[in-house]
Amino acid sequence: MQSEGYVLQELIQDVDGIIRGYSSESETLLHLKPVLEKLVSSPASVPAKAFTPRKDRFAMNLLQMPEDEAYSIIGGVWHPGQTTPIHDHLTWALIGVYEGEEREALFRRTDDGSNPRLAKIEPVSERVHKKGQVTVLGHKGIHRVDNISLRPTFSVHVYGRDIGNAKRHSYDPVTDASSLGTAMSYATKKDSSRSTVRPSPAKPAAWASFRD
Ligand SMILES: [Fe+2]
Repeated sequence: MQSEGYVLQELIQDVDGIIRGYSSESETLLHLKPVLEKLVSSPASVPAKAFTPRKDRFAMNLLQMPEDEAYSIIGGVWHPGQTTPIHDHLTWALIGVYEGEEREALFRRTDDGSNPRLAKIEPVSERVHKKGQVTVLGHKGIHRVDNISLRPTFSVHVYGRDIGNAKRHSYDPVTDASSLGTAMSYATKKDSSRSTVRPSPAKPAAWASFRD
């Protein structure tokens, strides 16, 4: 795949066009995966500021979200040893590894969903994603992500909603408990990064939509 020179601003343009151009989840994900792969496999394609870490937890830096909140793009930083709960997103999601590696375990529900506080889940698969690789989850996707390496992992995520202000389920496989809550929030203020995608030079000198 030709990936030389593909940068974040081009991904933003492509993501916006794909999401406006396809109505089904399967078509949207089919077209989003290769552009995210292209971005995260390209060297120096994402500004370092996108991967500003937090000391206390997983850092989720909002990179782009349009006014209608049709999607959000974030830069994530996982410290060594960090892990997530088993969770869903109540939307589709793509996660591309930009630097380092992350282990992802996938799960599925085996109950009928009739009790909102309980959920039976079972493991499906587990793999380690490395630079340039993208994992894709549909609306019903359930996973756990952790960094089992000795250095930080940088990743670029695309979600089908305002993920930093969205509720999602966390699952406890021991008690079968399911809880709905806002598990993530942006490290940077939402409104400062929210913008519509405008026609712009392919390689902007500065990344105008990202500010502290
Ligand atoms: Fe996730």
